[in-house]
Amino acid sequence: MDFHDYINKVRERFQRSDFAPLAYVHSYGCQQNVSDGEKILGMLADMGCGITDDRSSADIIILNTCAVRENAEEKVFGNIGELKRLKEQNPDLIIGVCGCMPQQKHIVERIRRSYKYVDIVFGTFAIADFPKLLSEHLESRKFTEDTEERNSVPTEGMRVIRSCFYKASVPIMYGCNNFCTYCIVPYVRGREHSRLPEDILNEINGLVSDGCKEIMLLGQNVNSYGKNLDEPVSFSELLRRINALDGDFRIRFMTSHPKDVTFELIDTIAQCDKICKHLHLPLQSGSDRILTAMNRHYDLQKYMDTVNYAREKMPQFSLSTDIIVGFPNETYDDFLMTLDTVKKVGYDNIFSFIYSKRKGTKAAEMEDNTSDEDKSKWFRELLEVQRNVAEENYKRFEGRVMTVLFDGESRRSGYISGKSDEFIIVEAKGSTELIGQMKKVKITSTRYWAVEGEIID
Ligand code: 5AD
Ligand code: SF4
Repeated sequence: MDFHDYINKVRERFQRSDFAPLAYVHSYGCQQNVSDGEKILGMLADMGCGITDDRSSADIIILNTCAVRENAEEKVFGNIGELKRLKEQNPDLIIGVCGCMPQQKHIVERIRRSYKYVDIVFGTFAIADFPKLLSEHLESRKFTEDTEERNSVPTEGMRVIRSCFYKASVPIMYGCNNFCTYCIVPYVRGREHSRLPEDILNEINGLVSDGCKEIMLLGQNVNSYGKNLDEPVSFSELLRRINALDGDFRIRFMTSHPKDVTFELIDTIAQCDKICKHLHLPLQSGSDRILTAMNRHYDLQKYMDTVNYAREKMPQFSLSTDIIVGFPNETYDDFLMTLDTVKKVGYDNIFSFIYSKRKGTKAAEMEDNTSDEDKSKWFRELLEVQRNVAEENYKRFEGRVMTVLFDGESRRSGYISGKSDEFIIVEAKGSTELIGQMKKVKITSTRYWAVEGEIID
């Protein structure tokens, strides 16, 4: 039996008892996880459930968890703790915990020990087995678990329920082969596995004909897309095929690993009109010593060669990055090299994190004599530097026309907010009816976190 059969089985069971449960799914963490959550919602809807965003009225609650940093995990445990009260009020409530956290043994043990009211636990590999697990739980009413590792995750043909009609994330590959020493992802998401290009193109075609304006291609390392397919296809080739599809939409992707970004990819971005002129290129550290300890397989020179080539081809090119502050035994000199690189590259956006020790990773075993106080101090210093860098950078947009997809209300009344092709927040006077529309905006002023302009078209 595959997941379709179990979906039918559960739906028939609900129909027989004349019960249409309400389901609530919350996804933490990265866009890959959000995308998995959309599949879980799709399966629940196919099983006959109604969908709610109010967990107190739900009959089924699924927390789709993130393990990338400790504070993300503690937040999840806090939220699982809050569900105890709901379970006491409604003993028939079904609580599921899935995603990256249960892919670690010690987490499942903690759930079993301290959160006995959790009913179903499954990991990232078992997403297609969720209907089976739910079916088994409905029959036995016992704790049901599947956290086994598998070679691949069969999700083709799964219905997806997206919360947004104008933007969509499309996974192009799953897993990661890189084993950066600080990172838990390869342990909880397994080895790289690319989707077939025709499946990706079909999905995007469907989305675009439904009116979707932005396609975000997802993978932990999109630059190694297609290497292991029976008929290998490079990421650049995939991008060119997507760019050639009919329709008025733009293409983004993340994440690019600096070790695998080729000049061919930069040329592809420059030549394809639908691809946003922006690259998220996680630096992690500006110190070669730390990059080696992180097992990143590039040095600062290689990173800067990529940045310089991109800027040569596209002078206005926008870059964002991830930075980890306080890797084991990082010194202030190492950190200064990161600061220096941040200034040199001139990122438009930085996502910075204090290093978080992840059990089972190589870095967790490394000696660490750097104090938490220093790490926090340096982290604040990085934020301050980036604020100045972005303030200076954003001035280049003044007077320019940007293409903006509006996605929400601004905090200022009468204003709406969106993202430009460069992934910059743009605010403009306008009503919420414009949300979901792509417009040209002439920039009139800039700040350090956003720019502002007038809609001209
Ligand atoms: N501690 C801090 N940050 C981490 N990241 C991944 N693992 C850790 C960790 N253990 C950050 C990296 C990555 C981003 C998604 O999360 O910067 O690029
Ligand atoms: Fe983690 Fe490195 Fe893989 Fe990114 S490339 S998911 S940081 S191991």
